[in-house]
Amino acid sequence: MAEKKGTYFITTPIYYTSGKWHIGHAYTTVVCDAISRYRRMLGYDVFFLTGTDEHGQKVQEKAREAGVSPKKFVDPLVDDLKSVWKTLDVKYDKFIRTTDDYHVKSVQKIFRTLYEKGKIYKSVYEGRYCTPCEAFWTVSQLKDGRCPDCGREVTVQKEEGYFFRLSEYADRILKLYEDNPTFLQPKSRMNEMINNFIKPGLQDLCVSRTSVDWGIPVDFDPKHTIYVWVDALFNYITALGYGSDDTSLFEKYWPASLHLTAKEIVRFHAIVWPALLMALDLPLPKQVYGHGWLLIGGDKLSKSKSDKISTELTDPKELVERYGSDAIRYFLLREIPFGSDGVYTNDSLLKRINGDLANDLGNLVSRTTAMIGKYFGGILPPAGAEEGTDAELKAVASALPAKVLAAMDALNAPDALEEIFTLIRRANKYIDETMPWALAKEEADKPRLGTVMYNLAESIRISAVMLKPFLTVGADKILACLGVDPSEVTDFSTVGFGHLAAGAKITVCPPLFPRIDVAKELDALAAIAAAKKTEKAEKSPESHKNATSDAPVEEISAEDFARVRLVTGKVEACEKVENADKLLKLSVRTGERLRTVVSGIARYYSPDELVGKTVVVVANLKPCKLRGILSEGMILCAENKEGKLSIVTTLADVGDGATVR
Ligand code: MSP
Repeated sequence: MAEKKGTYFITTPIYYTSGKWHIGHAYTTVVCDAISRYRRMLGYDVFFLTGTDEHGQKVQEKAREAGVSPKKFVDPLVDDLKSVWKTLDVKYDKFIRTTDDYHVKSVQKIFRTLYEKGKIYKSVYEGRYCTPCEAFWTVSQLKDGRCPDCGREVTVQKEEGYFFRLSEYADRILKLYEDNPTFLQPKSRMNEMINNFIKPGLQDLCVSRTSVDWGIPVDFDPKHTIYVWVDALFNYITALGYGSDDTSLFEKYWPASLHLTAKEIVRFHAIVWPALLMALDLPLPKQVYGHGWLLIGGDKLSKSKSDKISTELTDPKELVERYGSDAIRYFLLREIPFGSDGVYTNDSLLKRINGDLANDLGNLVSRTTAMIGKYFGGILPPAGAEEGTDAELKAVASALPAKVLAAMDALNAPDALEEIFTLIRRANKYIDETMPWALAKEEADKPRLGTVMYNLAESIRISAVMLKPFLTVGADKILACLGVDPSEVTDFSTVGFGHLAAGAKITVCPPLFPRIDVAKELDALAAIAAAKKTEKAEKSPESHKNATSDAPVEEISAEDFARVRLVTGKVEACEKVENADKLLKLSVRTGERLRTVVSGIARYYSPDELVGKTVVVVANLKPCKLRGILSEGMILCAENKEGKLSIVTTLADVGDGATVR
């Protein structure tokens, strides 16, 4: 067991429940998860908090558009987010929802306390509001008249409101930064806060709204709801029971060790939040870290943008389904320089999987375990005298834990992983240098071969222990192949070289990360993106207009048209696609071939109506997966302006497989 090191309270921002989740969202939480696991292995009593930010104008508007109550609108999004964390193997200690009763009550109580203490007063607010960011701006803060964070339009808002005396805290916040230079990291963010916000003068912050119903009511003045950002920030203490009858968690874990956030919300965490805590006379968090963004084509992924994005697959669950949770975790933790922006492309993800995981790590493990199987019957031989490059390999392995520790103390997962992969690559080089296959030829070289195998197995074991916080599935599989019970590896006490006893049972490790054919995979991803675009266009109210529009479109030649192979097909079977109310799965016979076609016509036809019908199929459409089903073609339909739809069929019975021209 690791020596007990005290408590470590780590938080992610709580997520706005206003749209679907993308890979950019996963970034903060996966980083927090790796840090939490790492700290636990160091012996800290960790409490990892995440959750959802469910109130505010944005959610209210989205729910109205969807024609449901805000609570009905957010519930499935919350479930979906929890399932994203599950697929990514994120293990939090608590998931808070700002609609949770205990949070609502505590926030009301805190708000009243602040009012009674004179930290909040009532006045009239006139300002500019950016609804997507749920943020107020002064005219001078706007950039070209638009929201300085997201560049979108702002609206003028004038209403009675409660104000928090933020302006009074400027000096104390500057002093906080001065006395604790690591309070806000990276350092550039601190300069940004000082120069862009504090020095120009902090303004009192409007902390209630009368125009937004979907929020926590101010209990002593119920026509006001509490500003969503204030409601949200308090989650960090209400989740621990602050303001409730049971404050034991709060006493144990507060102040937070780390609030990890992305850079655009640092202002709230490093100015507004400490000021609110100061007003309540509560201890301040030890550190706020503002990481960079995951960029797609140079843009921050946002909920509204994520579905417009060209060919990149950005849905975290789909990505995990295709490549596994370790691969996605690894990419996020390794590829984005911590604190800076990083670019996400399918291509860069696939290259990381093939290069680092399949080639470097996977190969090392499968080659070594296979050789121990072949040359020593799967029993780890003892290490003999040190020779050749043994010392070099051992030096890299022995230096690794301290290097990972230093990187992770600075929250730098990319550097920690780079160190681990330096050992992995060194071990691969060691195989090339020692040439075990040549040693295996001579009986006299068997002791040397044993030493080589032992050193390799040890290097792999040490790498796997160090990888545990990052690759939560693969590291355990590797340890199990080396005869180590992964559930017993709960700390770093075994990372010294030579811990593995000779005689350990080694099993051949199956490929952990199968190599991907990048060109083929990129094609498949492009096909999925195209199918999604079509699905989205079909769903949009605009689609009916477009579908039936006789506005001029680009002309194509007869040759172009001839490239499309249309054939008749007989529907032999048809069923609904589970959890997809618009999709039907059809088995269509087109001559010799029985193909599966997924079609978005479930709202127009029941499966029974279609069985036996002759339809027209685009037979040479690149197959693509829809809801996990490979669709091999498309069924032609006619649709009018009102959205009435009919499948295209033939007048005479021409049978299946007939060419349509
Ligand atoms: N609800 C607020 C946070 C309140 S905390 C008291 C919020 N929510 S959010 O859903 O918009 O963002 C949640 C987290 O995901 C934030 O850290 C946000 O910056 C992060 N990211 C969203 N898109 C991202 C990228 N493309 N890249 C990196 N992080 C991203 O802000």
